[in-house]
Amino acid sequence: MVEVSTSILNVKEKEESATFFELETAKTDYFHIDVMDGKFVKKDTYQKMLEYASYIKRISNLPLDVHLMVEDVKLGVDDFLAVEPNIITFHLEACKNKEEVYEIINYIKENNCKVGISVKPETKIEEIYEFLPFIHMCLVMTVEPGKGGQTLLSEMVDKIKTLKKYIEEKDIDIDIEADGGINLKTAPEVKKAGANILVAGTAILMANDFKPIIKELKN
Ligand code: DX5
Ligand code: ZN
Repeated sequence: MVEVSTSILNVKEKEESATFFELETAKTDYFHIDVMDGKFVKKDTYQKMLEYASYIKRISNLPLDVHLMVEDVKLGVDDFLAVEPNIITFHLEACKNKEEVYEIINYIKENNCKVGISVKPETKIEEIYEFLPFIHMCLVMTVEPGKGGQTLLSEMVDKIKTLKKYIEEKDIDIDIEADGGINLKTAPEVKKAGANILVAGTAILMANDFKPIIKELKN
């Protein structure tokens, strides 16, 4: 069963609470919190995402799917543990070496939170293989991280296929999340390739009724 994690990156100012409420009733499975520090990527959404996540925590029981696009991963983890997310995903490219990757994996788990690792489009999927037995999710970026509303990079579909084949061969039980440019046109090939969690921002938020698009993305 495919799940949908709605990115709240571009929720319209002043319409936040109505939008979060509508997304919950439209049965999004997660709220995808796109945390950007202005260093790992150009945009800085750090404070806004912290406010949104804290607010959602107060008004909803839906799980938070935190996507850290930050250079200082440990600080991001500490700040966002405060909103008790279901999972915190950090970027492999933000870590200096393998030791740091393992350190962060263990730190997140020691704080009773699931852990994911994300890879940018230019990062080879093989680079994440050794960490897979220790994490709950691999977030495959299907666009260059940094903003919403981009077009899915079609070569990322093969990347998801390769990852899916590997985890099946090695019998590793892990979620594959695709993130960026996911809509009714691109979702079918991404699901077929093996992604079982789809992140969508623009495709959902631009619809005047969230329910049908979320339902359609899941089918
Ligand atoms: C990009 C973010 C994605 C993006 C998704 O850096 O990680 O989650 O906001 O938005 P859409 O669905 O508009 O591509
Ligand atoms: Zn994201």
